[in-house]
Amino acid sequence: PRPVLVDTDPGLDDALAILLVLAHPGFALRGVTTLAGNIGLERTSANAGALLALAGRHDVPLHAGAAAPSVRAGIDEAAIHGADGLGGVALPAPVPARTGSAARFLAETLRTEAAGTIDLLCLGPLTNLARLLEEAPDAARRIGRVVAMGGTIREPGNVGPMSEFNLAYDPEAADAVLRAGLDLTLVPLDATRRVRASRDTVRDLLALSSPLARKAGEIVEAYFRDAATRESRPLHDPCVPLQLLRPDLFPAETLHLRVDRSDGPEAGRLHVDPTGAPANVALGADGEAALALFVQSLR
Ligand code: BDR
Ligand code: CA
Repeated sequence: PRPVLVDTDPGLDDALAILLVLAHPGFALRGVTTLAGNIGLERTSANAGALLALAGRHDVPLHAGAAAPSVRAGIDEAAIHGADGLGGVALPAPVPARTGSAARFLAETLRTEAAGTIDLLCLGPLTNLARLLEEAPDAARRIGRVVAMGGTIREPGNVGPMSEFNLAYDPEAADAVLRAGLDLTLVPLDATRRVRASRDTVRDLLALSSPLARKAGEIVEAYFRDAATRESRPLHDPCVPLQLLRPDLFPAETLHLRVDRSDGPEAGRLHVDPTGAPANVALGADGEAALALFVQSLR
């Protein structure tokens, strides 16, 4: 199994990604760090802790990280993820977050194993990773692959005309991460909007015997609650572990990118720019195969 760290702001689709990582034998989860994003830090930490408890993984270290973006004010996403960030789905009492800074935990964990062996899955704004780069650049260089859900290249944005939530929430952090020279794969809306759960997905998950799969079914169901007329919902964050498992399902190109750090609707937009920093960018996805792998992974 591939040792991984998960940085997250659960969040319905974050929760689905975490359940996938917990369920799939291809991942060895070394720790979870949380941050404010979809909802405040206390909720995202409690939600991540509850998912670990559901899986009986009280051994996995959980650390609360950034409570706000690096410099800006946050964006409220409660309309999508519900007042508790998980659409009211019932979960067990959470594994408590440990004390000590998330960036320090990431640095210490990265130093315990050979450089390049631990991959980092970023499912929210990039604030915690930017802080790690600033506080412990030597440890950050030990990360294997960074796979981050964020941004859009050609698809319309979800918070601005061409801006996506995770990057728009903290453009300064996204800029620092892009320019850090990491082995970075971005999974933008161009890919994640092609991997969609339907009501059949809910039925398939609820029919499985694994408690993690059934909880995933309830979470996908909750994701439809405020979008009752939609036929399907995008599985943004699960695309991150899916990309690590099967990069061939996410055709990618190296693009040189710059993050828009203006104020207003363009904040966080990715500009393709020859003077920008290179990243491997998933520009699409085999949606059907990725969805099948998602369900299969939770089995
Ligand atoms: C991203 O923003 C959040 O709402 C989701 O959890 C995902 O990480 C999609 O733009
Ligand atoms: Ca997220």
